[in-house]
Amino acid sequence: MSGLDTLRETMRRDRVFDFVARREPISSERLDTRHGPILYLESVTVSFDGFKALNDLTLYIDDGELRCIIGPNGAGKTTMMDVITGKTRPDEGTVFFGQNIDLTRLPEPEIAQAGIGRKFQKPTIFEQLSVFENLELAMATDKRVWPSLVMRLSSEQRDRIEEVLNTVGLHALIYERAGKLSHGQKQWLEIGMLLMQNPRLLLVDEPVAGMTHQEVEHTAELLTSLAGKHSVVVVEHDMEFVRSIARTVTVLHEGHVLAEGDMDEVQNDPKVVEVYLGS
Ligand SMILES: Nc1ncnc2c1ncn2[C@@H]1O[C@H](COP(=O)(O)OP(=O)(O)OP(=O)(O)O)[C@@H](O)[C@H]1O
Ligand SMILES: [Mg+2]
Repeated sequence: MSGLDTLRETMRRDRVFDFVARREPISSERLDTRHGPILYLESVTVSFDGFKALNDLTLYIDDGELRCIIGPNGAGKTTMMDVITGKTRPDEGTVFFGQNIDLTRLPEPEIAQAGIGRKFQKPTIFEQLSVFENLELAMATDKRVWPSLVMRLSSEQRDRIEEVLNTVGLHALIYERAGKLSHGQKQWLEIGMLLMQNPRLLLVDEPVAGMTHQEVEHTAELLTSLAGKHSVVVVEHDMEFVRSIARTVTVLHEGHVLAEGDMDEVQNDPKVVEVYLGS
């Protein structure tokens, strides 16, 4: 390569880097929901070695709604959440957050940054830290640094932690070590950690598995209280729990919407009874 070519190559690369560096990060302020739903999945198909885990799935979630998704094992519920959060890319179809954010084109961290929080079944709390410290850490953008070592909380940040503690019902346990919490309390702490990021959309996969009856009730109240401020999508098999929180229920079967409506409508739908509720 001649000296001139090398110079050209360097300039070209610099422009690319410059472009990458200057790309504006997607923030939740950019989300446009003025003309409709907060989440659009249209004709989404995901294949694993020819098997269609999602098959022409179309689903809309409104801003502020609490939606329950039910359906038999293997129906594609978790795969649907994987597609929304960017963990799995669809083979076909479109996935939009508001009218303007194309989730199929964003890397996972940017999807989280854009305002989509996901709660996995196994809580990812820090057992050695207190409830308060866990929430403090959830606020930090750089997870490698424990925030108390490098920054002092502003009064707004402290207020925000207090607010979240009240929302999830863990205020009395503020200085308790997270490892000592009950199974249900750990789940609520993790929901609290997600809330610290102030997500517009919260995805919750099987939140009440393994909980006591009382914990299930508290979780129902908690998720209900989040609706309005956040859009919440809950996947759950526990029908009593679903009935206690559900407004609209979507039934998935073989990667496709089998039925949608209020709890009574879907429970009395013969197709739903046949594939899911009949047993
Ligand atoms: N990474 C993967 N590779 C291959 N097959 C997969 C993968 N992920 C999911 N599947 C398959 O896709 C189908 C849908 O799985 P998914 O986990 O989405 O179902 P689900 O509705 O969440 O079920 P459950 O109620 O049991 O949690 C299943 O048949 C599953 O085996
Ligand atoms: Mg699942």
